[in-house]
Amino acid sequence: MANLAVNVAGVSFKNPIIPASGVFGYGREYEKLFPLSELGGIATKGTTGQPRPGNPAPRIAETPSGMLNSVGLQNPGIDAFLERELPNLLTKDTVILANIAGSTVEECVSIAEKLDETDVHMIELNISCPNVKKGGAAFGVHCESAEMITAAVRKATKKPLIVKLSPNVTSITDIAKAVESAGADSVSLINTLLGMRINIENRRPILRNNVGGMSGPAVFPIAVRMVWQVAQAVSIPVIGMGGVSSGTDAIEMMMAGASAVQIGAAIFTDPYAPVRIISEMNDWLDAHHIASVQEIIGTVQPW
Ligand code: DOR
Repeated sequence: MANLAVNVAGVSFKNPIIPASGVFGYGREYEKLFPLSELGGIATKGTTGQPRPGNPAPRIAETPSGMLNSVGLQNPGIDAFLERELPNLLTKDTVILANIAGSTVEECVSIAEKLDETDVHMIELNISCPNVKKGGAAFGVHCESAEMITAAVRKATKKPLIVKLSPNVTSITDIAKAVESAGADSVSLINTLLGMRINIENRRPILRNNVGGMSGPAVFPIAVRMVWQVAQAVSIPVIGMGGVSSGTDAIEMMMAGASAVQIGAAIFTDPYAPVRIISEMNDWLDAHHIASVQEIIGTVQPW
């Protein structure tokens, strides 16, 4: 057995694998399948100040190259999260990353202040949702707004602060550097890549929102490239995600520079994906006589 433990921004994880925000809800369905304590951590569904119904359906579609979603941050709101979900999650002996989002800076600050009073382990600030008209990615596509919202949330909490970045930008390294300078303890990337498909029979986009975020294996090379570039540009730890579906994908993401890896769309095709990936990583490390997964972080040797 290789040692799979990692440390991200001062927080110890028993292994680097974390179900990504939005694909795991609050773990209620999955805790019937396997002990959630086997996971490195859990990123919870993006929580806003008030309950949100999300966007009209159809808002999730499978395509041959991956999944498109335009969910639009459906969630029960921070008060219901604190009352109904967080207490259960905190009994699971795994790191809880509370993902938060808002239409305004004030909304994000107020959610962060509420979380600061709890035992949640980390806050992941989502400035990259491609599916909402106000807030969301609007904060994450310009250095100035990314820096401003990160600095405001930084002031509102002492919890380790991860900022989740959008791939739908000209320079993700510039955004990463801006949030690092504003006090982020870590960055996570990539959120979904904006895409579109059309039903040629009725000439309507397949999503009611017309466009949506693409995830799944097709985005993996893009995610690896962005993680590799960001890891070189900043001094804070990077959490990698985007199309990871196997243990070897996770190893590759870590060689690119990720200290931990989130699993998204793969969970929809295989609900056991996170625990399978942990086991596959272990097998690969054992087969290569590598004692600790930490030894591989950022070890790609560019030509
Ligand atoms: O693809 C995404 N969908 N990314 C997010 O950040 C949020 C989610 C949604 O709720 O639309």
